[in-house]
Amino acid sequence: MANAPKVQTRSIGRKTIRASLTPRELITPTPELKNVWKATVITLFPTAFPGVLGESLTGKALNEGLWQLATIDLRRFGKGKHRNVDDTPAGGGAGMVLRADVLGEAIDAAQDTSPANPLIYLSPRGKPMTQALMQTLADGPGVTLLCGRFEGVDERVLDHYDIQEVSLGDFVMTGGEIAAQALIDATVRLIPDVLGNQESTVDESFSSGLLEHPQYTRPAEWEGRTIPEILVSGNHGKIAEWRQEQSEELTKQRRPDMWARHRAGKDKD
Ligand SMILES: C[S@@+](CC[C@H](N)C(=O)[O-])C[C@H]1O[C@@H](n2cnc3c(N)ncnc32)[C@H](O)[C@@H]1O
Repeated sequence: MANAPKVQTRSIGRKTIRASLTPRELITPTPELKNVWKATVITLFPTAFPGVLGESLTGKALNEGLWQLATIDLRRFGKGKHRNVDDTPAGGGAGMVLRADVLGEAIDAAQDTSPANPLIYLSPRGKPMTQALMQTLADGPGVTLLCGRFEGVDERVLDHYDIQEVSLGDFVMTGGEIAAQALIDATVRLIPDVLGNQESTVDESFSSGLLEHPQYTRPAEWEGRTIPEILVSGNHGKIAEWRQEQSEELTKQRRPDMWARHRAGKDKD
């Protein structure tokens, strides 16, 4: 905010201690890591995090400080004795809408600690999540995610903060938390060193503009089905050729839209 007083910070190694006008308990008390990609999630359900992000490679990377996560509990900014965060829709209609003033205070608290991070509202009205978006976010300093509930959020908040709306798909969920975890998972795995083997992000679906070829492993025969002979031939040139053909065939069949874009790109080269 333009007239906000300057916030004092003190650094100890990679950790930054930041004096904030926001009472400490409003934000999860994890130390801030300097220059480490950060997801801040504004939610009514902070205990839903890290959720599945705390498992496997993303969980290990979180523990190792390769990325960081903070939640901001929307309820703490609620109004009145019952800390109300929602109210009836202007103009009538079913359900409740998250209040602009409550959301505004929560977003200001997020921006207090991560002012450069883009703001995203998880919303079925948003543009679909893509690998390209995840790559752009992974290349930046982090992201602040707003999880809606009920009928969604007061539109003025989206306009005021110029928030980008992003969707997990053409369906409606009860809240934005699952979509937020999907976005964080897909982004964090693109941060260097989060995946043990960086090769795997180069080869997989979408990175090359095609769907991935089929994969096989042991046993060599299962339920009478064998592995394609070429994959056990040891001929790496032929294997690469076979995988490319399979990728192209699958993309043509399953995602004609992607195939058309891939062809258009090739024709330009
Ligand atoms: C029940 S939905 C609200 C739907 C809204 N009334 C509409 O028709 O667009 C509650 C919240 O869930 C989240 N949500 C639901 N579906 C989603 C999707 N496909 N992608 C991302 N977020 C979603 C959003 O944060 C939304 O505010």
